[in-house]
Amino acid sequence: MKYVSGFLSIIIALFSSTGAEDVFVYGQVGGTVTLPRLKWGSESVLVQWYFGTDTKPLISRNAQGRETIDDQWKDRLSLSKTDFSLIINNIRLEDFKSFKCELKDFRPTQINTVTTFRLSHVSVQPVSPLLAGENLNLKCDIKEIFEGTQRRWLSPQKQDLNEDKRAKIGNDGSLTVMSVTGQDNGEWTCVVTYQDRVAYAITSVSVIDLIPAHSQPIYTSVSSLSPLRLPCLFPIPLPLSWSDSQEKVIQGGHWTFTPSAAAGSLTGVVQTLVNLSPGPPLAWVVNQERGLDVSALRRNDLNFTLSKKGVTEGDRGEYTCTVEFQRDYTLKRRMRVEVLQLISSPFPVAFVGQEVNLTCTLGQPLTSDLEVKWIPPRHSSLLPLGSSPHPAHLTIPEARDRDGGRWSCELWKNKTKLTSVVITLKIERVPMDVWLLVTICAAAVIFILLLVLTVILIRRHRQRVMMPRRGKRRICRCKDPKPKGFYRN
Ligand SMILES: *[C@@H]1O[C@H](CO)[C@@H](O)[C@H](O)[C@H]1NC(C)=O
Ligand SMILES: *[C@@H]1O[C@H](CO)[C@@H](O)[C@H](O)[C@H]1NC(C)=O
Ligand SMILES: *[C@@H]1O[C@H](CO)[C@@H](O)[C@H](O)[C@H]1NC(C)=O
Repeated sequence: MKYVSGFLSIIIALFSSTGAEDVFVYGQVGGTVTLPRLKWGSESVLVQWYFGTDTKPLISRNAQGRETIDDQWKDRLSLSKTDFSLIINNIRLEDFKSFKCELKDFRPTQINTVTTFRLSHVSVQPVSPLLAGENLNLKCDIKEIFEGTQRRWLSPQKQDLNEDKRAKIGNDGSLTVMSVTGQDNGEWTCVVTYQDRVAYAITSVSVIDLIPAHSQPIYTSVSSLSPLRLPCLFPIPLPLSWSDSQEKVIQGGHWTFTPSAAAGSLTGVVQTLVNLSPGPPLAWVVNQERGLDVSALRRNDLNFTLSKKGVTEGDRGEYTCTVEFQRDYTLKRRMRVEVLQLISSPFPVAFVGQEVNLTCTLGQPLTSDLEVKWIPPRHSSLLPLGSSPHPAHLTIPEARDRDGGRWSCELWKNKTKLTSVVITLKIERVPMDVWLLVTICAAAVIFILLLVLTVILIRRHRQRVMMPRRGKRRICRCKDPKPKGFYRN
């Protein structure tokens, strides 16, 4: 048995050292590669790895398991724990040569086997940063290509580009992706498959794009305490080189607003809210009337987020953020803003017994995916309301005192609360009090009038009683001088 295995070993050794072709292994600069050891020999085989024509091994492992590594390679080499394959980390350009693995088995007699590996270069040239909308061109280069080698591409999301309609893949390992977006920012991989092995060449692609737009409207309400915030910014810093080269410099930009059809007279008229003056330095020119605020501009971290304190129903509509680059490149983000409002009729005060209408509205009929949920004051006469969805229009047929207070209307979509709006309804007994007051006043006025009348009448009466006496007196007075005169005469 011993002899048979020894004989077989010799045959393998002869075959390996003489007949075997070089084994090709692909690697990328900066990457990692494993050169596989032949499954040959007993467990206590001596493994020695050589680089090129060097006579001193890079790394060796003796039958007792002791490893020695060349100082120059110390940081980059290791042997796999299971089969002592060679692992090369952080591959350098000068590593693309041959490696040799020598195995020596001393049992039963010394036999050697040598395998030669050729480390071959696969690479993808880096590309300069792209603006969203531009085309991406990549090429997967292989120095020495053998038959049966295949290349394919993976996007940053690890999707195979064969299934991407935007992609054109050439037989020479080239890839063109039309009209890239922010999603394409990241690491692109060329996957090289050969002889049951696989190698990866990775390159990093920067795609400058504004953050993805909200596909759904932004919901807020007139009683929202937080300002309306419309994001418009680049998720990754702009490359430093851009601010200096004239190629892709920001030339201008603006925020525009198209009011909703229901919002009033300015329907359909595009208003410019903010203009970006290219400077230098970049600066916003803000339409002051609308109480807007735009984020500070920084050199490489441009943030065009628009915010507005105090939301009103006039803010309903479509907002567009546009950033213009040289060479007619523009990036745009469009978003719709919906403002929830609670209308009470009558407002702000209703009287007990009156009919009160409450309407929760976005200024247009609610779409079927939206649900309204009312939260009346705790003791409201309308309770219980039943489970939501509730109607957007609520009528209190006869308002009571306990209907007064904080009415809230919430807007929900698929188990998520979008926004809510609040009003404070005042229910008063004012009409009763007024009538009482009016009656009291009227009574008081009548009383005063009667009093005045009585006084006048009494005085008149007195005057009438006095009048004849005065007449007598006057007669008397008239009479009195007469005797005087009489006496004179
Ligand atoms: C952009 O500006 C807005 C508003 O000023 C701010 O809330 C946000 O945090 C900023 N974003 C970044 C990434 O700086
Ligand atoms: C409440 O709404 C109904 C119908 O929608 C209307 O007839 C009524 O006049 C409204 N009442 C008030 C006080 O607005
Ligand atoms: C509702 O939300 C759940 C998870 O939040 C999601 O799986 C589902 O698709 C949504 N349904 C609709 C109709 O949007």
